[in-house]
Amino acid sequence: MNIRPKITPIYQTSVFKFEDLDAVQQYFDEPGSRYLYSRNGNPNSDELADAVNRWEGGAGALATGSGMAAIFAALLTYCQAGDHVLCAADIYGGSAALLNLELSRLGIAVSYVPFEELDDLSAHLRPTTRLLLCETMSNPLLRVVDLRAAAVECHRHGLRLVVDNTFATPVLTRPLAYGADLMLHSVTKYLAGHSDVTAGAVVARTAEDAARLCQIGTVFGLTLSPMESWLSVRGLKTLRLRVAAHSENAWAVAEFLEEHPVVAAVYYPGLPTHSQHALAMTQGGGRFGGMLSFRLPDDPAVVNSFMRRSQRFPFAPSLAGVDSSCSHPLSTSHRALTDAQRTELGITVGLVRLSVGIEPVEELLADLAQALD
Ligand SMILES: Cc1ncc(COP(=O)(O)O)c(C=O)c1O
Repeated sequence: MNIRPKITPIYQTSVFKFEDLDAVQQYFDEPGSRYLYSRNGNPNSDELADAVNRWEGGAGALATGSGMAAIFAALLTYCQAGDHVLCAADIYGGSAALLNLELSRLGIAVSYVPFEELDDLSAHLRPTTRLLLCETMSNPLLRVVDLRAAAVECHRHGLRLVVDNTFATPVLTRPLAYGADLMLHSVTKYLAGHSDVTAGAVVARTAEDAARLCQIGTVFGLTLSPMESWLSVRGLKTLRLRVAAHSENAWAVAEFLEEHPVVAAVYYPGLPTHSQHALAMTQGGGRFGGMLSFRLPDDPAVVNSFMRRSQRFPFAPSLAGVDSSCSHPLSTSHRALTDAQRTELGITVGLVRLSVGIEPVEELLADLAQALD
């Protein structure tokens, strides 16, 4: 019987069988020719890594157990004890926690670079500085980094550029094409897209870095399980359609919020009032994604009232699922930042982040109208 499934089956196995010593020797002589142990590689996690690698135009990729594992693997590709990392001040709170609390214990120091200084890193450099970590579109304020300028500035100083492309997705922006050395995703978000997977991926521009990444993934045990990989691959197939729908809806929601009297500010790169609107337009190919933040009065009672009244934006501290949700950076994603970092960025009680889904937009606008009334 010649079974030829259209879709890759789930290889729900931790290990693979060998006929004899010759067969195992062949595995080590010809890496990639077959499988040994799922932490080292599995057809499902390889399918995901290959698919993300193709999307992002890389030389090789690693599928990881989460976005955090992806950030960890990316940083370890270039850093060891005694090194120093630059990180954009506008960054996901978990990335800051990893750098501040854990990598510092391993002897990897961090300095934060304000958004306005990303195009001239001179003042932040040390002899041990290895790389800059930044997000294409920052969480939660949707600041858009000029990736080409950042890559030129990094390479001028012999640094690597590592880009978290979670918010933008390759539908909008492919950081490697702008000169980034490594780029990563929390696949948990748009790539998987249905709020039912925790996963990550890192893509390298060179084959040498890709090999180092895979070594780190295997020996630190950061690799992704077959089932999560399979679900992520399924999600990826609709990425282009979903991101188009997310972007259209988010644009309409941003315009609605900007006009609402109770909203003090809206952060969405698609609005002409956004300070990097022109850059976002070219770097995002005319789309701006499904994420936005807005400012309510800095009063927990007002924020609670909005959350309780909204039916279509449940308070669920993640993002990028097909169903809309809202989050509160101060009390969730950016909780681990220092008080000074949060004040500097303007992450206050009144800042609410929306992940705009792909539901009929008039239903979302009607829900927001009644919740903000
Ligand atoms: C921009 C960004 N990067 C990385 C992560 C971490 O991803 P994960 O939760 O899959 O570990 C997140 C999570 O919210 C994120 O928003």
